[in-house]
Amino acid sequence: MTTAATPEPTVFVIFGAAGDLAWRKLIPALHNLFLDRWLPEKFLILGLGHQRLEDAELRQHLRRGVDQFSRRGKTEDGPWASFASHLSFGSSELDDPRTYAYLAKQLAALDKEWNTRAQHVFYLAMPPGMTGTVTRELAKVRLHQDRKRSRIVVEKPFGQDLASARELNQTLAASFEEPQIFRIDHYLGKETVQNILAFRFANTLFEPVWNRRYIDNVQITVAEQVGVENRGHYYEKAGALRDMIQNHLLQILCLIAMEPPISFEADEVRNKKVDVLRALRPILPEEVHRFAVRGQYGEGKIDAQEVPGYRGETNVAPDSPIETYAAVKLLVDNWRWQGVPFYLRTGKRMQTRISEVSIQFRPVPHQSFPAAAVMDWRPNRLIIAIQPEEGILLRFEAKYPGPSMRLAPVIMQFYYKEAFRTTPPQAYETLLLDVMRGDATLFMRADQAEAAWEAITPVLETWEEVRPTDFPNYQAGTWGPESADALIAQDGRSWVMPTFLQCQEELATCRVTMAPASKSAP
Ligand code: BG6
Repeated sequence: MTTAATPEPTVFVIFGAAGDLAWRKLIPALHNLFLDRWLPEKFLILGLGHQRLEDAELRQHLRRGVDQFSRRGKTEDGPWASFASHLSFGSSELDDPRTYAYLAKQLAALDKEWNTRAQHVFYLAMPPGMTGTVTRELAKVRLHQDRKRSRIVVEKPFGQDLASARELNQTLAASFEEPQIFRIDHYLGKETVQNILAFRFANTLFEPVWNRRYIDNVQITVAEQVGVENRGHYYEKAGALRDMIQNHLLQILCLIAMEPPISFEADEVRNKKVDVLRALRPILPEEVHRFAVRGQYGEGKIDAQEVPGYRGETNVAPDSPIETYAAVKLLVDNWRWQGVPFYLRTGKRMQTRISEVSIQFRPVPHQSFPAAAVMDWRPNRLIIAIQPEEGILLRFEAKYPGPSMRLAPVIMQFYYKEAFRTTPPQAYETLLLDVMRGDATLFMRADQAEAAWEAITPVLETWEEVRPTDFPNYQAGTWGPESADALIAQDGRSWVMPTFLQCQEELATCRVTMAPASKSAP
């Protein structure tokens, strides 16, 4: 895992430097790393690709991206100018071998100028269809060769299904070795996601109860308020299952369910995560309806504003069968988790933006308190809030003050912003720094990516074969389709109300109902 070392001299090559990803994520992250002095002195960002803009315009465009998307807000002239002195662009076609000859020459010239052998990071920030071309061309000019200093970064979507992910892995493996390949899942760079490891493995308190004996079920919710935005083209080929569950939600599941690693070596952590994916009980095609539910948003209101339904969005077919909501029940077939369902759900245009893991503990084996005392009794719940709230919350029972014995749920909470009083880095900052340090712990290995595809393949295939007949089946601004409630209700459970806030509201309600009740209590 990441230590506090500054990377060695680095040339960070972005294929697709004028694209959306570089604009929204990569340059803002690199700019913050620069301001926080994490970048080496000898550092260059070399942007390649078909540039529609002149050099000066491109710089302005990237600066506007930083102004808009950086956690620090607007840039200042001086620091931006220093950062911009590390930027260089070349307008070139990515399928033209001359681009790579030029690149090889540039990199050799820099080594000479810097009098060192710099690391080379090749960041593929362009449509995935180009990955094969770029890797092959890099190999032709032997830029893949230095196993220690040359790395390639691949964005999601990592393939379109299991077969294409395998093919992509083979394409990459034809030129690069696995330790050189960094498959990004930006959820793994989020502080709160990484904190799951710290919470589980740096404390003795929770590990003894982290199993089927004490845990009833686990719910992972990633709800978004945004719709499909301007990504209709991409989303029409993806859908919520591919876009979110195959990667982000399954990665969170792995962190919750994995066995303690022996060390935080990249492969040790990744082995333990792959074990979880391999232990997932396969969903039989004929049982998909019992394990998975899909939905698509129709028109509705978000924060009192009317918003269109998915089928009314740009670049979306008017009869699109693509799901914008998916809920899946998964079982992990191993000793620790036998019989504990993991419910995963994600959707666009939901009521609130919230990513949260809720660990529901079992009820006490015997209720010793009189019935009147336990009216508001709830089983223990641990909530790991990923965003927008960042923290951990533990709900347990306490005695409500008063002369009679009454129980009431209370909350013990930890908020990042209160505990540490610092702004955490954005996910891409952590991940890009890790790439430059050569630390692959937070990146998906080939087998991991394939195992994640394998887990959802029966659902993907069934959904592709059978067109949905009820789309749109949830209104924008709600919590998804009714069938998702039915999915969990068949096990006698319900989705938990996410967010700290709602949990607190729930507590407030308990107190209100308890006050009059305590008067009439014996
Ligand atoms: C991306 C998906 O990977 O994650 C998007 O492609 C989604 O559809 C995004 O909106 C959510 O990320 P975050 O960090 O905003 O929760």
